[in-house]
Amino acid sequence: MNFTEIEKLEEHFQLATYAKMNIAAERGVGAWIWTSEGEKYLDLYGGHAVCATGHCHPHVVASLKNQSEKLLFYSNLVYSDVRAQAAKKLVSVAPESLTKAFLCNSGTEANENAMRMARMATGREKIVTFSGGFHGRTADSISATFLGKYRKLGKPNVPHHVCAEFGNLESVRSLADETVAAIMLEPIQSMAGVREAAPEFFVRLREICDEFGICLIFDEVQTGIGRTGNWFFGGSDLAGGITPDIITMAKSLGSGVPVGACLVDEKFSAKIKTNDLGTTFGGGMLAMAAVIATLEAIENDEMLENAMAVEKHLRGYLKEIPNIVGVRGKGCLLGIEFNEKCTPIHAKLLEKKIITGTSSDANVLRLLPPLCVKIEEIDLLIEALR
Ligand SMILES: Cc1ncc(COP(=O)(O)O)c(C=O)c1O
Repeated sequence: MNFTEIEKLEEHFQLATYAKMNIAAERGVGAWIWTSEGEKYLDLYGGHAVCATGHCHPHVVASLKNQSEKLLFYSNLVYSDVRAQAAKKLVSVAPESLTKAFLCNSGTEANENAMRMARMATGREKIVTFSGGFHGRTADSISATFLGKYRKLGKPNVPHHVCAEFGNLESVRSLADETVAAIMLEPIQSMAGVREAAPEFFVRLREICDEFGICLIFDEVQTGIGRTGNWFFGGSDLAGGITPDIITMAKSLGSGVPVGACLVDEKFSAKIKTNDLGTTFGGGMLAMAAVIATLEAIENDEMLENAMAVEKHLRGYLKEIPNIVGVRGKGCLLGIEFNEKCTPIHAKLLEKKIITGTSSDANVLRLLPPLCVKIEEIDLLIEALR
């Protein structure tokens, strides 16, 4: 089918919930995709922050092919070698205190289960999240989302969600007490325009949580699995070395195969019993093969180091470009701040066959490239921006 035919069919049969770019993706390799019209695009949005290992990484593809010939799926009612290995591998790259994995299918589901674990373990109901944070679109996660219009879309909201100001400890202190089950946050607020907080903020959050017995949850759906040049934000220098009680993740975890997870420390995992949580597809074999291969590919190809090098390179060159007033973020999660609205810049880059992302800050263009993106490929963006 050509683009016009694809567009017509999709517009007719799919509920129109997304504003789409006028291209149809057909195949991909590394940081590149090819369209139905045979045109090549540089994907600096990484398939919506999902394709951390690049499109169709050969190791991931080979593992999926191999697994699909053995067993596509069986649920958690049976043991599985591939699930056992995936959970072990995931725990091995996590901060030391996070020793158990809960396996699910998406970011919002990981967050719902993290909040549920916090409530179950503490016997409390209140959840503190932050202005500008995005946590997903199912009932509890959208109620925890204080960014733009999203929370309203989830009405009626789940009760007992309250909002603190991101980066402002006083506002957290005014809400924190023995009635709070969890404080949950995106350690870098991606959709809000790649907003950051100082390491000190996370250190103090940890102290507040320890003081009141509150569960600290990092939503690392975007920052996890190597995106910042660290396996996770939690436990890294970016967080002042502190580790949350639960890290949630999805997006990059399966290189495009839908999969989510919570990594949980002993204190909280010890309180969760058989049948307290569950999901049919969580821990399925195909998804688990994708998890193992994704983590191996990131390791084997030294993508954490590459993500750091990409950031350094971009920061160096972007500061010479007029109209750019700042660069935010870490590794391969970067926000380029312009002194003007960036929607026309996003559109112009697309004309030049470079895919980037916007954010809810009108002046901030978002980059979420595959962690394997090459410096020469990043140079194409710099040239186009010039
Ligand atoms: C930080 C964050 N949390 C949660 C989610 C929800 O993830 P999913 O769309 O996989 O449910 C997203 C999705 O964009 C996200 O960016």
